[in-house]
Amino acid sequence: MRKVLSVFIVCLLSLTLSACSQPNENEGENINPADEIVEPEIVEPEENMETGSDAHILIAYFTYGENANLSNGAEVSSSASIQNWNGEVTGNAGVLAHMIHDAIEADLFSIRTVDPYPSTYDETVAQGRSENDADARPTLAVHIENLDQYDTIFIGFPNWWYDLPMAMYSFFEEYDFSGKTIVPFSTSGGSGFSDILQTISELEPNATLLEGLTINSSQISEAQNDVDAWLSSLGYGQ
Ligand SMILES: Cc1cc2nc3c(=O)[nH]c(=O)nc-3n(C[C@H](O)[C@H](O)[C@H](O)COP(=O)(O)O)c2cc1C
Repeated sequence: MRKVLSVFIVCLLSLTLSACSQPNENEGENINPADEIVEPEIVEPEENMETGSDAHILIAYFTYGENANLSNGAEVSSSASIQNWNGEVTGNAGVLAHMIHDAIEADLFSIRTVDPYPSTYDETVAQGRSENDADARPTLAVHIENLDQYDTIFIGFPNWWYDLPMAMYSFFEEYDFSGKTIVPFSTSGGSGFSDILQTISELEPNATLLEGLTINSSQISEAQNDVDAWLSSLGYGQ
């Protein structure tokens, strides 16, 4: 019964988001894809950042699965963006971040909000809409202490309502990446980057923005080859 309800909710959300027409967006995109539903093992993240290395590259990412209120046996089966990576709960952008991390020497930083997002994806879609409408700046729970160490920051996020999640505005407004290189990567249900690259260059006008990678959520688990090819094209990786 729960799975039937989950499929119904995902279908309903897809219809709702598709009906929400936006300028310059393609109709018929699979905005809220019904990925294979995964029942993850719930693991409380102990660290959001690997520290102590002398890496000059940081991979910072925001992903629903690491920002959702999934503990205490909360309902997670209706989410289409919960992933496992080596037994730890993450999301689609989190998987891309780990794939990049497997290919290059870099530190990882998971962007977390003080207030977690709801345990169900449909509630999160609605909250994301409200936050975007309100031009909200969710308070971040964790902070990069040693930004000077890094000259390049890979920055990953999902497309939320054809825009950055508002927590990413909090992130970009907290840090000055002047003189640094930003390498964007994203995941979406079909919208790709929308106008987000332009937004990042406006938020960080004195950073160098390299060519980004965007992967459809339905292709996440097979994305390692695309990630490696993209890194090679930028001069990273093997
Ligand atoms: C609040 C919200 C809004 C979304 N808006 C869009 C959208 O406008 N276009 C799109 O293609 N996908 C949209 N999606 C789908 C996500 O971009 C997609 O599922 C992504 O892979 C989630 O990544 P994550 O697991 O790292 O959070 C939205 C998802 C949420 C939760």
